Amino acid sequence: MRALTKFRNRTRHKTRSEVASRSNDPPNVARVLTTQAETQANYDRIARFYEPLEGIWERRIRSAAVSALHVGPGESVLEIGSGPGYVLVEFGRLAGPDGVAVGIDLSSKMCQLAHRRLSVDSQTVGVVVQGDGGGLPFDDGRFDAAFMSFTLELFDTPQIAVVAAETYRILRSGGRIAVVSLRKEDPAPLMQRGYEWGHSAFPRLLDCRPIRVGQALAQAGFMIEDDQRLSMWGLPVALVVGSRPAS
Ligand SMILES: C[S@@+](CC[C@H](N)C(=O)[O-])C[C@H]1O[C@@H](n2cnc3c(N)ncnc32)[C@H](O)[C@@H]1O
Repeated sequence: MRALTKFRNRTRHKTRSEVASRSNDPPNVARVLTTQAETQANYDRIARFYEPLEGIWERRIRSAAVSALHVGPGESVLEIGSGPGYVLVEFGRLAGPDGVAVGIDLSSKMCQLAHRRLSVDSQTVGVVVQGDGGGLPFDDGRFDAAFMSFTLELFDTPQIAVVAAETYRILRSGGRIAVVSLRKEDPAPLMQRGYEWGHSAFPRLLDCRPIRVGQALAQAGFMIEDDQRLSMWGLPVALVVGSRPAS
């Protein structure tokens, strides 16, 4: 899964020992070496192949996460890393004509796909903007709910806390969050070990890795309400649901 395109620009390529030797990381969570510009170019490149390549494989898990967020009529919901917009359309339908679904994605090509999906669905009030999940262009407390699927694990380790804090900021008091991502477990099951080996050996080919989602959200101040372990091709996946405590 993830971006399967090789990069021509190898000038910033780090060795495996450099990846392992960085300090101040949460225990064992590998770093991501792909720059934001590379990630953007990568997803621009694979956007039109994304659905047959991997979107379908992840559908079951995404659907479970959408249900877990309980978006209702009149609500505003933000999806970070909205990709081709499958979930955005669902949120738009659930939020109804008085609500809104907003997507943000780094890749302009992904944004175009999502925009197209939203515009053919007359039931949906939705908008997608191109931007970075680490610096959300929205006011504090603007949204009732936030969502990420298979996106948080693409951010480098220090950035995960930044994205979690940004998501906390744009949610109203009592607002909800649901995140699905590759899940880091100890001891690591076989598939996780294999994936982590692949990431360390080919950091630009496998541009994400398993992370500790519940821990990242709790550190940002979220109350964790559910932390489920799911599985995809034997790889542990986390579905974490939380809320911004009511003030
Ligand atoms: C693996 S895809 C997942 C897409 C969608 N959430 C899904 O489940 O099908 C990751 C998405 O995150 C986007 N992305 C990567 N880095 C990002 C960033 N810094 N800010 C916003 N979006 C980002 C990519 O462009 C891509 O569309």
